Amino acid sequence: MEYILTKEGSTPFFIPVTDPTHSFPPASGEVFFNPRMELNRDATILVLSLIRPEQYLDAMGGTGVRGLRAAHECGLSVTVNDHHPHAVDLIRKNAESLGIDVEITWQEVNSLGSARHFDAIDLDPFGTPAPYIDSLIRSAKRYLFVTATDTAPLCGAHLRAGMRRYFSRPYNTEYHTEVALRTLLGFVCRETIKYDRGIHPLLCYARSHYVRLHLEIRPGAGAADRSLGHIGYIHHCSRCPTRKEQAGIIAETSSCLGCGGKMRAIGPLWLGAISEKPFLARMQEALPTLALHTQNEIHSLLSRCREELDLSYHYEYHTIAKALGRSPPGIEAVLAFLEKEGYRASRTHYSGTSLKTDAPAEVLIRAIGNL
Ligand SMILES: C[S@@+](CC[C@H](N)C(=O)[O-])C[C@H]1O[C@@H](n2cnc3c(N)ncnc32)[C@H](O)[C@@H]1O
Ligand SMILES: [Zn+2]
Repeated sequence: MEYILTKEGSTPFFIPVTDPTHSFPPASGEVFFNPRMELNRDATILVLSLIRPEQYLDAMGGTGVRGLRAAHECGLSVTVNDHHPHAVDLIRKNAESLGIDVEITWQEVNSLGSARHFDAIDLDPFGTPAPYIDSLIRSAKRYLFVTATDTAPLCGAHLRAGMRRYFSRPYNTEYHTEVALRTLLGFVCRETIKYDRGIHPLLCYARSHYVRLHLEIRPGAGAADRSLGHIGYIHHCSRCPTRKEQAGIIAETSSCLGCGGKMRAIGPLWLGAISEKPFLARMQEALPTLALHTQNEIHSLLSRCREELDLSYHYEYHTIAKALGRSPPGIEAVLAFLEKEGYRASRTHYSGTSLKTDAPAEVLIRAIGNL
């Protein structure tokens, strides 16, 4: 295998040489490594530096970068696993050249998850994490982090695959990235609560081609029941901008209060908070103390997540402006209008042109159409 040396945070490590002419270069190396996931890894290093788990399992290590960074930059006790022998060789080489002591295991992840317990587990698979959540939730004592890159099934673009994997009915709306995040959260919640444990999101977000969860796992049937209380549906009117949240495991049928049209139920999915706001504040405070190359992007992401309202849908307000035949006003003017009318309104982390509000559809239409 041919390698080149690279660096993330303060950690140097070897990655395989890839073919730049390949349709997806990270997949052309003998071991998978995607440099575009640096922010994903940096944000997790920041989370780890605050929660400081006793033992962190990088369950699908690849080059081992996540686990090695956690050991080198946060001083954590770490296990790095992969089922591919080339990956295990590279993880070993990287650990040796860093001179750090990490446990390296060569196992199928569900066997490892069924056999042992770890304080915090990070699952970073190719595509869907669905086949691995059950074993890893049994294995995780306090924290579970999950990446999903199968955004097409999660957000409704590949409907059947999404329903098979997540047992939920997404619907391809203009807020499909949020539906993807909440569908995955809903799935992980259901896999967890059957063991009388609950989930508590610390930092969850959707970005470029992936969805990322950082969850605290809380013990007890009470915690599980509280999590179950956050499962429900978004009712979506496709004729006007009316959306409605409904808690519960059975979807009710309803008509749109704005236009009388039929509402379509999306879910079941997670309706609760996707992050813990005080934790986000602590992350922002700690950010300058770490050597992270994506510091500025993480700062912006955290700011947006902090201001985002805890509603489970958002609007791409340019879409509404287009439907009204108007050129879109500035987002700050729309938010100010909604607040002046007595409603809550915020930007979101999903895109620069998305907003959240509890204002009814006709007020939102007035805000966008009259400015
Ligand atoms: C997306 S890559 C991991 C990338 C790495 N975490 C990073 O941040 O660069 C997925 C890795 O999981 C490994 N893998 C896939 N299925 C597995 C399984 N069932 N058990 C253990 N490892 C698996 C692959 O060999 C691959 O190295
Ligand atoms: Zn309607």
